[in-house]
Amino acid sequence: MKTVGVLTGGGDAPGLNAVIRAVVRVLVPRGFRTVGIRYGWRGLMDRDVVELDLAAVEGIQQLGGTILGTSRTNPYKKAEDARRAEDGFRALGLDALVAMGGEDTLGVAHRLSKAGHPVVGVPKTIDNDLPGTDVTFGFDTAVSIATEAIDRLHTTARSHDRVIVVEVMGRHAGWIALHSGVAGGAHHVLVPERKVDLDAVCATVVRRRERGERYSIVVAAEGAELIAGSVVQDATQDAFGHVKLGGIGEMIASAIEERTGHETRAVTLGHVQRGGTPTAFDRMLACRYGVLAAQLVIEGRFGVMASLRDGKFVPAPLDAVAGPLRTVDDAALEILKTLTD
Ligand code: F6P
Repeated sequence: MKTVGVLTGGGDAPGLNAVIRAVVRVLVPRGFRTVGIRYGWRGLMDRDVVELDLAAVEGIQQLGGTILGTSRTNPYKKAEDARRAEDGFRALGLDALVAMGGEDTLGVAHRLSKAGHPVVGVPKTIDNDLPGTDVTFGFDTAVSIATEAIDRLHTTARSHDRVIVVEVMGRHAGWIALHSGVAGGAHHVLVPERKVDLDAVCATVVRRRERGERYSIVVAAEGAELIAGSVVQDATQDAFGHVKLGGIGEMIASAIEERTGHETRAVTLGHVQRGGTPTAFDRMLACRYGVLAAQLVIEGRFGVMASLRDGKFVPAPLDAVAGPLRTVDDAALEILKTLTD
């Protein structure tokens, strides 16, 4: 009987459990044994596994997070860890591995694949900025949560004649800010793709008051940068060299209050956007990715990942996620000009 490992790496995303379930439900009835590797690549190094039979994945498609746990462990940071990961692959008797993650996790998957290990990837990030696929699961859920929060903030901002700055996730790309900002009727949306001009933000706030509109909602992606530079909460880097972002919302809020004299509050949505139950759209997307990944294992097609291209689920090279991130394009940014302020 062939054994297939399944692991989730990097930040969690709503829909991961639906992928895990889909992979198991395709493979187990076809005579494969599936095992879950816990906490991403760390579990492969530590040989930390759990059996994944049909009972283990029953009813998990609606659960947020990942039943396997996750980590940002990068085994290729140290030669000794890379050896442990590759030894783990052999010691666990894996005939294949399905790895779900973003550019970092799939970057490791690509290196393992180049070292001769049979790996299939599944792209994942709530930020929706991975190249090589059109949309990632978790994004729709994050946008829904952020939109609901913005809807709620309208009524309290209006009641107090306040400006409210909502900070949403989006390290390098402003997709969550754009979609939730437009859907939620924000008056200004700040994205990492365009440096933030505080004068322009304040001018929007003032112009609205002059028009008799007494409150403003500003949506800021955490990765948005002021003309003066980005806001880094904690300069310590994770194993893939990322610093912790955050704080742009607070900074913009105090600048707006100081410059315009209008009372301003900041709200940071943070990990609320990544937690909890996935939307039906994300569950379906995750199921389709999972089914394709399992089919690729059955066909023995490795070194590839499941991807969505022009409405079709197709395999793509594992290193397709290594290219430049898919950021918000000018056409999408044009929409903001028409629909905000
Ligand atoms: O990559 C997804 C993401 O949610 C980013 O938007 C955010 O910067 C980061 O993960 C947060 O990561 P952590 O869970 O390590 O705080």
